[in-house]
Amino acid sequence: MAEEYAAVFDSIGLRVFEWPWIRRLVKKFRPRSLLDLGCGNGYLSKALQGMAPELYALEPSSVMYSIAARALCGGVTLRQGAVEAMPFADGCFDMVVSLLSFRYMAWDRALDEIRRVLKEGGIFILVDLFDGSFNPRYFHRYLSTWTAVRLLYIRNRDYRKKLRRLTENSAWQRMIAEHPRRNIAEAKEAVAQKFHVEKFRLLSAGLRGVTAGFVCRKKTAAG
Ligand SMILES: C[S@@+](CC[C@H](N)C(=O)[O-])C[C@H]1O[C@@H](n2cnc3c(N)ncnc32)[C@H](O)[C@@H]1O
Repeated sequence: MAEEYAAVFDSIGLRVFEWPWIRRLVKKFRPRSLLDLGCGNGYLSKALQGMAPELYALEPSSVMYSIAARALCGGVTLRQGAVEAMPFADGCFDMVVSLLSFRYMAWDRALDEIRRVLKEGGIFILVDLFDGSFNPRYFHRYLSTWTAVRLLYIRNRDYRKKLRRLTENSAWQRMIAEHPRRNIAEAKEAVAQKFHVEKFRLLSAGLRGVTAGFVCRKKTAAG
């Protein structure tokens, strides 16, 4: 589904909940070296150009990798590989960002590898979709999500049509069934075992799932 996915999500601006939060964090931490993990078509790396002097992107799928290589045309060091065995030296990144790729990974091994490639005190930003059921405590977030999605559809009519075509595709549905949204409490626990979770943010909430962001710091030798 790589070509179809890349055709729908052709601009980071469509990630109205995720991108402003990630951008703010990158501006705040000002990493020298940053890895976009599971970069897909490369739209995040493209948007991050100029925000980190040493920008790297990693993508395992050969089709996605070719799409990203075309889109990025230099400026970002793009490598092919999976998180579970990353082709990077120990302690070489100030920041690793995973946007919507964590759910496809083997969490335990992925978190060990992310920790390995980060410098002491380095930052891991994790943004993903998780399962969730209605929680009245977050009513304001349901309302703001609903409004933002409607506005996005009004401003990008083409995007809505393309998104519908993508999600109705049987190959897409099979892929989603093979990789269902995972449990947020489990994610919190898995991450907290290996990192200091400095911030957790509910970025959007729908009746079937939520998007959440974690800011995690690699524990130092002293803990
Ligand atoms: C939904 S796409 C998200 C891509 C991109 N980050 C974005 O925001 O559009 C999920 C990506 O995770 C990648 N991925 C899947 N398993 C992975 C793994 N084990 N290690 C690294 N990336 C992985 C896929 O190839 C795919 O490009």
